[in-house]
Amino acid sequence: MTQTKDKLIEITDLKKYFAVKGSGLLARRQYVQAVESVSFAIYRGETLGLVGESGCGKSTLGRAIIRLHEPTSGRIVYDGTTIYDSDARIAVPMLPYRRKMQIIFQDPSASLDPRMTVGEIVGEALDIHKICSGKAQRRERINQLLDQVGLNTEHANRFPHEFSGGQQQRVGIARALAVNPEFIVCDEPISALDVSIQSQVVNMLEDLQQEMGLTYLFIAHDISVVRHISNRIGVMYLGNLVELSESYELCNHPIHPYTQTLLSAVPLPDPEKNKTRQRILLEGDIPSPIHPPEGCRFHTRCPYATEKCRRETPAFREYGPGHFAACHMLEAKG
Ligand SMILES: Nc1ncnc2c1ncn2[C@@H]1O[C@H](COP(=O)(O)OP(=O)(O)O)[C@@H](O)[C@H]1O
Ligand SMILES: [Mg+2]
Repeated sequence: MTQTKDKLIEITDLKKYFAVKGSGLLARRQYVQAVESVSFAIYRGETLGLVGESGCGKSTLGRAIIRLHEPTSGRIVYDGTTIYDSDARIAVPMLPYRRKMQIIFQDPSASLDPRMTVGEIVGEALDIHKICSGKAQRRERINQLLDQVGLNTEHANRFPHEFSGGQQQRVGIARALAVNPEFIVCDEPISALDVSIQSQVVNMLEDLQQEMGLTYLFIAHDISVVRHISNRIGVMYLGNLVELSESYELCNHPIHPYTQTLLSAVPLPDPEKNKTRQRILLEGDIPSPIHPPEGCRFHTRCPYATEKCRRETPAFREYGPGHFAACHMLEAKG
């Protein structure tokens, strides 16, 4: 068992619902249950990959952890301090934690203010957190950050639209690094980039992690993006975390039926094995998170669903060392 002191972040029963207007004449307010009772820990210095189909709640979970979205309920402990607890109604000043926790967004062009220069974008965070004293020190820090992400100091006076997607994402990374964070949510940071530069950005993020001792929650909709860079991987389905394990173990011995499906769609390096391997196809569409299925949320598409799965929500349990999953079939096996 890993000791408590190695846990940088621990979340318990975290929920995030969004209120949305219903349709029709007597439209009642409805809730999108985007994240439903998710519990797990993130260890200091690790990369935790988070995967699942589009719309399953990955971004919402990442944003709720750093309180970019206010959670609906649950608890968040950061480095031993409870920073959110819906039961205790504590009010922890978030500013110091905003500095420790940063995010890199999926779409760099949308996440950079088009009216600000790169220097202003990176410098803004320094100003909010009062990190530099004096203009010279500020300029020097901005130059240092641009250098760290592989940009030139002359780039500071240019606007985001003058850059390629890859360079824009480097600006987004420099902005996240400006405040010397400990933890970064990397929300599909390469999904919007050309395939040819994706690995450059991933390699850079890995180098920065080494240099600065960063902890990452690395979100991807495609498991093949994170399997090599993650120490552990978590799999989400319709707002639930359904499996979590050490990366190699998860990719080679997945125990949840949904993870098995996801992995069966990933091409294998050996083309011969690819030909003979069976791809598991799920029936039906992903249900709406406004009216998610009762019991196990995956039961409507699970090939092994039983009566119990339709009624009861399975607990998220440890089935091997550090290997967690939520599935009644596994409970029955013992
Ligand atoms: N601000 C919001 N208001 C209402 N619904 C939202 C909002 N943000 C996300 N959602 C919904 O929450 C669910 C999860 O979304 P998201 O976290 O973006 O998924 P992912 O990142 O896995 O693609 C989706 O059904 C999405 O439509
Ligand atoms: Mg997302």
